[in-house]
Amino acid sequence: MENPFRPTAGATPPDLVGRGGVLDEFAYGLRIGSGAPGLLTIFTGARGIGKTVMLGAAEDLALNNGWAVVSETATGGFVGRIGESMRRITNDLGDGPTGRRVTAVSVAGFSVTTQLAPEEQVDWRARGVALLRLLAQRGTGLIITVDEIHAADRAELSQLAADVQHFIREGLPVGLIFAGLPAAVSDLLNEGVATFLRRADRIDLHAASITEVERSFTETFAGAGMTLTAELAKAAAEATGGYPFLIQLVGYFLWQEAESAPQGLDSAATARAVAAARRRNERVVIEAALSTASGRDRDFLQAMSEDPGASSTTDIGRRTGMRPNAVGNYRTRLIDAGLIEPAGYGLVDFAIPGLREYMTSHPAKN
Ligand SMILES: Nc1ncnc2c1ncn2[C@@H]1O[C@H](COP(=O)(O)OP(=O)(O)OP(=O)(O)O)[C@@H](O)[C@H]1O
Ligand SMILES: [Mg+2]
Repeated sequence: MENPFRPTAGATPPDLVGRGGVLDEFAYGLRIGSGAPGLLTIFTGARGIGKTVMLGAAEDLALNNGWAVVSETATGGFVGRIGESMRRITNDLGDGPTGRRVTAVSVAGFSVTTQLAPEEQVDWRARGVALLRLLAQRGTGLIITVDEIHAADRAELSQLAADVQHFIREGLPVGLIFAGLPAAVSDLLNEGVATFLRRADRIDLHAASITEVERSFTETFAGAGMTLTAELAKAAAEATGGYPFLIQLVGYFLWQEAESAPQGLDSAATARAVAAARRRNERVVIEAALSTASGRDRDFLQAMSEDPGASSTTDIGRRTGMRPNAVGNYRTRLIDAGLIEPAGYGLVDFAIPGLREYMTSHPAKN
């Protein structure tokens, strides 16, 4: 058996740890069709927590129930691309024999225009209605997923929301599932870009519990005839902190160790796998997230790393010598970048596992 772990953004893991029941409302929505609350869902959570994977799981569920799926990322022109996909699916349905299975469509290339011209907007809506009526006749519908919604152009997003709201009012079977970073999604909803989206079911994804990770590791290794003792499974699970990307990294490197140790994994091999996973997490998640941070952003983060838990903005101001409104500005910038998150009144905390330790072990060069 080949290494089943997938430490890559958006890749489907061998086991969806800690997500039992998350898609129940959505699945129920697929059964009742138009207007079900679960068909309007927003997944939020820190980088690497598994938002894209949840979108993929929702898409699979929809396809297995015979629904059509359009999967997009909210880069410029996404509404136009959704329209293009709807047109293709309609054509496919028209040509094929009735009852033919619909498959997902994703469109290569991108358009440079972000907003549709008025006549294109009319066309877009008409296309949607035509497709949804066809699907309704077959007892299914259309699911549209949009990833990285925090980066969406506001005008485009409000247009999409208005059109989908129109479809729902017409009783047509449509579902809209978004994913994005929590603080930015909150802003988006509060800005009133699309009041309709505030009614969406918001599911904030968190780390899995250590015991669930432990069970998952034990089962995955046992399933391939590899022995991972209870003690080592526990140590490996604890090292992940339940954070999905680390679950994949630790599992991946443990698997490699197991391949080169036919007599079984020992604690030294487990420790090597954990160290390799941490290094990779630093390079892939932390350094990538920090790549757009300025010197002052880093000073802010450095000041936070002095605390064992959440930091007060007053302390950060004192440690960095920033004035309160500068602290406020950097706080907003860092929240938008997904590096920190609000943790109660006047408090902020790191949003990425391992970032505090990274800031401590990589002090700014002054
Ligand atoms: N429930 C889960 N159990 C185990 N592994 C998971 C789970 N969810 C996601 N993963 C793994 O975690 C990694 C990150 O997942 P994903 O790309 O979906 O995160 P994300 O929240 O979309 O991150 P980003 O904000 O960077 O886009 C992937 O390697 C994926 O296989
Ligand atoms: Mg993602």
